[in-house]
Order: sequence, then structure tokens, then C-alpha cells
Amino acid sequence: MTNIVYLNGDLLAKEDAKVSVLDRGFLFADGIYEVIPVYNDKPFRLEQHLARLQYCLEQVDIDNPHSNIEWKNIINTLIKRNGGGHLSIYLQITRGVSETRNHDKPSDINPTVFLMASELIVDETNISTASAALLEDIRWQFCDIKSISLLGNMLLKNQAKAKGHSEAILHRNGQVTEGSTSNVFIVKHREVFTPPQNNLILGGITRDVIIELAEAAGLKVHQQKITVDELLAADEVWITSSSREISPVTNIDENIINNGNIGPVAKVLHQEFQDFKKSLIL
Ligand code: PDD
Repeated sequence: MTNIVYLNGDLLAKEDAKVSVLDRGFLFADGIYEVIPVYNDKPFRLEQHLARLQYCLEQVDIDNPHSNIEWKNIINTLIKRNGGGHLSIYLQITRGVSETRNHDKPSDINPTVFLMASELIVDETNISTASAALLEDIRWQFCDIKSISLLGNMLLKNQAKAKGHSEAILHRNGQVTEGSTSNVFIVKHREVFTPPQNNLILGGITRDVIIELAEAAGLKVHQQKITVDELLAADEVWITSSSREISPVTNIDENIINNGNIGPVAKVLHQEFQDFKKSLIL
């Protein structure tokens, strides 16, 4: 049961939570969001998610409505009220409600804060794979901001879906950026490569965890540009995100990666990820 949401200080049943049609999130997609995984009642990498939240709010010039202690209280209350366990917390902040629809940023406005929980399905033993379409990254230039304006991501993902794939891997002029809802890694000769963190990708929290775990396991990790040719010739390709953790890509369009099998490095890091989670849930 995940029916309790948080809206501007209140905990309510989902169907009772209402937002004005003049909310700038509704009219302009003027807001940002976070997705925080929760394992056994405990938010995973919460400090890092809150740091990214702060960064994104600064980028769009919205004052953070809460201190980190307040955020932790809100999130922990929401977890409890939704039965705990494994959850995904969605957190959204919009600039708020203005009297009129006007592109100018209103001076006197309070942000709208909304959080909800959904069930997080985790399979600690089986690794779930993905199949991807390679598509041109048609999004804007500020992909490091976790904006609620996801029209570009959504159109790309739907294009991939229409071709029978579960994700779109994106490139700009032949350079891989990220997935439509994930970050991208490749393996070549047992070394790990992922595009550098800049304005063209979202700095994934899972991406950082995977880099840390790979390095701790003695693997060389290169944060550098990856060409489409390198992607298609890789020994392994994975996508990472808060909902998927690490998911090996078995094919990109008609190109089969690692004979369609889960690669050895992905297997190691999937296990490392599970062990790391367990080490936090004492
Ligand atoms: N998406 N890049 C994009 C474009 C994403 O949408 C996401 C996550 C990531 C991975 O970030 P993280 O590891 O912090 O989840 C990278 C979330 C899960 C979503 O929109 O639902």
C-alpha cells in the first residue's frame, strides 16, 4: 500500500491531494525532481540525492524550501506511512502557484512540494537485462538539471519502445551521452568507461556508486567520451539508475552485445551492489 502522499506540509491520500491549475509546474514544467530508492525502510544515498536536489534548485533559481534535516524527517515519515520496505520516493518541487500565466519569474511565490512513494521491485539474485535503441539526443543543453520537463526523454523512450526496446541510448554527433532514463557504461578489455559528468548528462547517483564499487574491486574506470563505434564494439554495455541499479544491455538495435549474455564485469558489480546495500542495512 503506497497511497499516502506529502503535499506542502500535509500527508494525504493520493486522491485527496490537489494542486492549482495555475501551478507553474503544470503550466511551464517549471520545477525539478528526485527519485530516491529505499531499501528495508532506509533511503539509499540520501545525502547525495539531497545534494543533487540543492544543485538543481540553484540552477533554476528556486530557494530550497527545507533543510536537510527537515527533508529527512519528511522522507522518513512518508516511508513509515507507506508501510516501509523497498520503495521508490518521488520528490518534486515546482516554483509554485502564480496569479497569472506569465513567463517572468514571480517575485513573491512559495514552492509547491510534493512527494509520493511507490513499490520498488528489486531482485537481488537475478540480473534484469535491457535492450536499447540508439537514438540521437534531441534534448536541451542542461541535462544535468533533473527538470520535470521530460518531454524529450519521454519521446525518445517511446521511440525505443515502438521499436521493441526497453531503453533509448542517446548520442550527440556520434558521442554517447546517456540513456533516456539512465546512465551508460561500457567495458572493453576489462576496463570500464562512462561518459564524463557535464551538462549533457544527469549526474546519476547510481553511476557514482558503480564507479566507486568498480574502483574498489580493482577495475580501471575512465570517465571519458565514448563514440557510437566504441559503444557498439564494447565487450559489455550497462545502464544504471535508481530503479534499475545495474542492468546489462544485450542488444542495441540489431547489434548483439557479448553474444546476448550478461558479461562477467556486470555480474561482479551486480553482486558488489547487493553486498554494498546489505552492508548499509545492518
Ligand atoms: N531517472 N539519466 C537520466 C536521464 C535519468 O532520468 C536517470 C534516472 C539517470 C540515473 O540517475 P540515478 O542513478 O540518480 O537514478 C540518468 C529516474 C530514475 C527517473 O526519472 O525515474
